[in-house]
Amino acid sequence: LLGAVSAAALVLSANAASANCDDGEMVIKFSHVVAATGHPKGDAATLLAKRVNEEMNGTACMEVFANSTLFDDDKVLEALLLGDVQLAAPSLSKFEAYTLKYRLFDLPFLFSSLKAVDNFVQSDSGKGLLTVMEDVGYTGLGYWSSGLKQFSANKPLLVPSDADGLKFRVQTSDVAVAMIEAMGGSAQKLAFKEVYGALQTGVVDGQENSWSNIYTQKFFEVQDGVTETNHQLLAYLLVTSTEWLNSLDPDVRDQFVKIADEVTIEANAAVAATEAANRQNILDAGGTIRELNAEQRKAWVDAMKPVWTKFEGDIGADLIEAAVASND
Ligand code: LMR
Repeated sequence: LLGAVSAAALVLSANAASANCDDGEMVIKFSHVVAATGHPKGDAATLLAKRVNEEMNGTACMEVFANSTLFDDDKVLEALLLGDVQLAAPSLSKFEAYTLKYRLFDLPFLFSSLKAVDNFVQSDSGKGLLTVMEDVGYTGLGYWSSGLKQFSANKPLLVPSDADGLKFRVQTSDVAVAMIEAMGGSAQKLAFKEVYGALQTGVVDGQENSWSNIYTQKFFEVQDGVTETNHQLLAYLLVTSTEWLNSLDPDVRDQFVKIADEVTIEANAAVAATEAANRQNILDAGGTIRELNAEQRKAWVDAMKPVWTKFEGDIGADLIEAAVASND
């Protein structure tokens, strides 16, 4: 009897991930690393799942795994190719092993606002970048914006030289490393789920992220304060395996892609409000936010400008120009 019970438990737990899926439905697993709610990506993933589960009921069934519970961002890209998951949305900084073109999005002070980001991703240049990884098996379905990034550290940062000698956690991006070095700091690449612990134990002194990540991961609780630098974009590629996408019946694929497009537009329109709310949440929770005056801001822009030149060859001057033009 015990054997039968544990066998049943095993079956149950194996099915837990697709608990709401009916027999015969294609299961679409989406794995990401951020909070399930109150975060641009978490909310977008939930909305996508809701729409797929309502509108494609009987055909497809989507399950979302938030908070790095299934895979971190390095592993999820491998998992897509292995068919262990069908959707992911790692930040554009995490594709360096597959394309150097996305270094564009990491250039400091490239986009002046989320509106400019929107202009660029909807342009031909922006759309063209969705398919640059098809030769290595990935198709981008859209860009999910997440806000501009802010710096935090275990001491006040008002000008870049305040970062002298400090160690910052960065994503797996050489552009981010160059940026930190331009400030006189050193950079350490770490998975997102390790950042809080690394800040708390002093493995690193600081980090850079969106208001939503700084609030939902509680980074501000283990930092002296956050400086409102808006120095870099955080955005994600809603990405799938090209092979999986091509394997879908044309009708099913069209319906799924249409839903993904609509969710992308709706989710991006909500980002600014979510970011503003999480900035306020940090203040309400007793966190410190420092704003820059014009002179201090100029010091950050000037310090980071050499980073552009360093990566221009990988990205292409024409693409940089197109992105800059979207600021108008
Ligand atoms: C990070 O690693 O800091 C971010 O890419 C996490 C995320 O997905 O927002």
